[in-house]
This record gives sequence, C-alpha cells and structure tokens, in this order.
Amino acid sequence: MCMGYRTRLKTEFYLLLTRYNMNIPAFILLFLIGFCASDFTPPVVNISLDVLPEERWLPLTNIFDIKYLQEAATKIIDTTVPKWVHHAIAPIVEALENYIPQPYAGEIRGMASYYGAGISDVILLNFAYEITAFCASVVAQDTKGHLYHGRNLDYPHVDILKNLTIDILFIKNGKVAYRGTSFAGYVGLWTGQSANKFTVSGNERPQGHWWENAIAAFLMKSSPVSWLVRETLEEATDFQDAVMRLSKVPIITDVYYIVAGVKPAEGVVVTRNRRGPADIWPLDIQHGEWYRVETNYDHWKPAPHGDDRRTPAIKALNATGQDNINLDTLYQVMSVTPTCNGITVYTTVMSAATPEKYRTVVREKCH
Ligand SMILES: *[C@@H]1O[C@H](CO)[C@@H](O)[C@H](O)[C@H]1NC(C)=O
Ligand SMILES: *[C@@H]1O[C@H](CO)[C@@H](O)[C@H](O)[C@H]1NC(C)=O
Repeated sequence: MCMGYRTRLKTEFYLLLTRYNMNIPAFILLFLIGFCASDFTPPVVNISLDVLPEERWLPLTNIFDIKYLQEAATKIIDTTVPKWVHHAIAPIVEALENYIPQPYAGEIRGMASYYGAGISDVILLNFAYEITAFCASVVAQDTKGHLYHGRNLDYPHVDILKNLTIDILFIKNGKVAYRGTSFAGYVGLWTGQSANKFTVSGNERPQGHWWENAIAAFLMKSSPVSWLVRETLEEATDFQDAVMRLSKVPIITDVYYIVAGVKPAEGVVVTRNRRGPADIWPLDIQHGEWYRVETNYDHWKPAPHGDDRRTPAIKALNATGQDNINLDTLYQVMSVTPTCNGITVYTTVMSAATPEKYRTVVREKCH
C-alpha cells in the first residue's frame, strides 16, 4: 500500500487517458495542477479533558460537516477492512464495546452520537486507522544538544484524510496538558508532544494476520498502540518514564515508537512486539550518531528496494549536517522524495523544549 507513489501515478495516468479520453498535454496540465496545490495548516481544536468523555469531541462539529464525516468514515472502513471481515467481525465489534476502557468508551459513544453512526462503525473506524499507517520518523540532536523530532504520516486514503487532519490541544484544568495531530473521528494519537518533557510518534510495524491478532490481544486487555501514545503523553513525567511505558505496556500490534526528550542524548527508536520491546535504539552522540531514522522496517535490516524511504532521509540529514539541524531544516529533510510521497498526509516537526514551535503541515506537493 505504501509502495505508493509511482504505481499510483501510473494508475492515474492510464485511468485518465483511457476513462476520460484525455490527451497527454491535458494529463500533464492536470499533473502540474497537482504539483501546484498548496500545502496547508490543519485546523486546531481544543478538546477539554475536564468535560465528560461523551461530550469532549463535540467541538469537531463546528469544524466538520457531519455528512462529510459520515461519508469519509464509510469510505475508510469499506476500503480498509475487507468486506467479509467486516461482516464476520460485526458481532465481535458490538461486544468490544464492553471491553473498551474509559475514557475511550465514552469518547467513541459520543462520537457515534454526533456522527449519527452506529457505535460498531466508530469502533471499526478507530481500529482501521490503528493498523494501516505508514510513516517516517526522525529524531536528531544538534551540536548544542537540542533535540528535534520530525514525522510524516502516510496513509492510503490520503485525499480524505487530508481533510480530516486536525491539531488537537488537550486541555486539563484550563491548561494545555498535551497536544497531538490526528484525524477527526479517531480517539488515539500517532503524533504528540508533552511540553518541556518529550515528543512521540508511532510508525506501523507491518505483520501478517493483524486483524484477528489485534482483536484477540485487545480482548486480553492490551492497548491499541495509539491509546498508549495518548496515555503516555498524559501521564509520563519525563523522557525516561515515557520510554519505559512505551517499551513495556502490552499493545495489540507491533509498532515503532520514536521518542525525543529535552536533554542531550534523549532520542530513541523503540521497536515493539506486542508484549514488550524487541529492540531499543538510542542516539549515540559519542560515536557521531546524532540522528535516528525509522520508517516501517526494523533498523537492523535493509529497507526493501521497492520502499526505501529511509536512505533518502539519511542522505538529506548527512547533507544538512549536525551544525545546521533545526526544525526548519528537519522539515526540509522530511520533504525529500520519496520520504514524502504521494500518500503522505501530513508532516509534523516538533521539539519538546520549544513546545510553541510544534508545526503540522498537510502535504499537497509530495509526489
Ligand atoms: C476536501 O474539502 C474540500 C473543502 O471542504 C472539498 O472541496 C474537497 O472536495 C474535499 N476533498 C475530498 C477528497 O474529500
Ligand atoms: C551518512 O553519514 C554517515 C556518517 O558519515 C555514513 O556512515 C553513511 O554512510 C552516510 N549515509 C548516506 C546514505 O549517505
């Protein structure tokens, strides 16, 4: 799904030529329009943790047209979860409601009521997102010991999701407790920041039979990976505590967690199995290893030829140099092709020590 952009381009090309009888100059024109579409900043939503979970996400309805949200949810479910699975698991999904802990149960119930959707559809939507995110994350340290964290989130339903991307400020006792980037309708986080403590991103670690295993693990009380990100942002006291939680707490699928802190050398890629860490890969400044790049493959193995989004990012980091790395140059690194590609939904760059500089851009120009 993420080998994406070239195949997608080719498909689009033939589709346009044949279905619409389009000639080549017209295709080139359309392609250029695609290039010229502008990147944009997603809306920022305040979600108050001081109100009941059922009511918490209500502010979304000020931003999004309900009908649009319904159609988007249907499209994502229909294209992500195979039809037969959808039917086969419908009863299980209904039953899952009894297993969902607070606050997620209340939040999902609330979301279903504003969306006018069934609870099982919103649960399914939340699980569908859980499994299909392809990504790239970079953590880097400059020569003065400042940490920077960049991430691209890639997803096959890129066009719908661009419109659903939101930056969320989670408010507790009237103050921002943590923030993150997500999609309307989703209660977990794949990208977030706890100000002056740490930043975190999750990247999918692909595996077979995910759906069945994920449900089974969920019933055994493991957390969805994006819920653990949110809980860690809410509860962890510092970088070390965050890494510990993200390494140990049982989760429903394998994943990579990338974490950056505020003090020198606080940068790490945690490769997760469902039950615990498979590998912990920190920065190694003494040996000149001032950055770590993680996409969707174990770092100790080569990236597959068909999907090497790792080497271009490494080259760009080498070309930038440790002297020149900062949030702006890191954004440029995250923008190289194909690290940023046709299915990249958004790029976030962040640094926990300067939390106000958190920046998300929805990508229109990566091909
Ligand atoms: C995204 O939103 C814009 C404006 O609301 C709309 O015109 C466009 O069709 C939407 N794109 C998709 C793919 O739904
Ligand atoms: C990046 O730089 C490191 C350290 O100099 C070097 O070992 C590595 O081969 C370089 N990688 C690429 C892809 O240029």
